[in-house]
Amino acid sequence: MTDSVTSRIPGFYKKSLRERLARLVETGRLSPESIAFLEAGGGLPADVADRMSENVVGCYGLPMGIALNFRVNNRDVLVPMSVEEPSVVAAASNAARLVRMTGGFTGKASASIMTTQIQFDAVPEPAQATARVEAIRERIFAAGDASIPGMVRRGGGCRDLDVRVLDAAEGVLVVHLYVDVGDAMGANVVDTVAEAVAPLVHAEIGGEIGLRILSNLPLRRTVKVTCEVMADAVGGAKVADGIAKASRFAELDPFRAVTHNKGIMNGVDAVALATGQDWRSLEAGAHAFASRDGQYRPLATWRRTELGVRGELEMPMAVGTVGGSTRVHQGVRAAFELMDLERAGDLGVVIAAAGLASNLAALKALAGEGIQEGHMRLHARKAEVAEKTEAEEAPRRALGEGKAP
Ligand code: MEV
Repeated sequence: MTDSVTSRIPGFYKKSLRERLARLVETGRLSPESIAFLEAGGGLPADVADRMSENVVGCYGLPMGIALNFRVNNRDVLVPMSVEEPSVVAAASNAARLVRMTGGFTGKASASIMTTQIQFDAVPEPAQATARVEAIRERIFAAGDASIPGMVRRGGGCRDLDVRVLDAAEGVLVVHLYVDVGDAMGANVVDTVAEAVAPLVHAEIGGEIGLRILSNLPLRRTVKVTCEVMADAVGGAKVADGIAKASRFAELDPFRAVTHNKGIMNGVDAVALATGQDWRSLEAGAHAFASRDGQYRPLATWRRTELGVRGELEMPMAVGTVGGSTRVHQGVRAAFELMDLERAGDLGVVIAAAGLASNLAALKALAGEGIQEGHMRLHARKAEVAEKTEAEEAPRRALGEGKAP
């Protein structure tokens, strides 16, 4: 990590796109390649796009913005967000500004333990399978580790396992292997492990080997983030009461909880996308986690405190700072340069903080003036800024400067 850079840049939204970029360049964090990439308006060269996916015919762009004011575990963080929905970046920045008045977000990530599954069908004695698998657990770990030597060298590897009998009559059971994947997201790593150890388990319990694939519900890889805001900061005691009541509503009603969680995922997905994460996996994990006790519940809850209101968010967080094909994307590299973090757990905490900030912004608006008022204000403000920027940049464009084709 380099020296700290403030995430508090008043009036950032009023500047033109070029001025904002110049302000980011001043942080000294952006590489020449990232600056050139952003100056050209972002996007992806056709040959890189072609390597990232299949049947490529072009590129699909999304704005990349920076959510400001974030302070996470006593460190300022510039939070890159890619999202098409207007107001997500502004809402997160506003909420983060209120949270920083009381010190910012505090969060902790668990170890990076991914879960991988090996399915078995028609196992002859499923009741005995658990003991049989347990008896060779060290051999299973050794075979799993041997299939991922690079990860083991970096300190990762197999840590634990368990067996779940899903249907005793039909002999359907699943072996879960828990693998420390360090700073990687880890999907490929754990898929490799599952395929490598399946024959060994099969030799012990019989039946037929089925699927060998990660679970997108990594219950041992989670983050927890909290924050407290002053009642005055959210608009007074009545709004603080309203936020706590809105939380209660979501705790009681799945119909509301899903919308509450969608607001959280506005922030989570936007940072995940900007940093090249598998956001579908985060989505799948988040919603399964939200319903893990049988009722769909809010991922974040809010309680009234003497000071104001305190929020807490917990969710699975399978994200990585290394590996994956996404680092070929210069926008992802720029995002990581700006965030200046290396550990997957630190990235997970920032992503969750963005989720909690988005949730606070939504509940504050809903418990106060209503959501439309803020949206309309923001649209008006954006139209005003766009007009100003258009007027300023028109002469430059006439001279052939500005966005690349
Ligand atoms: C809109 O994208 C998100 C909200 O619906 C979230 C919520 O209702 O809490 C405003």
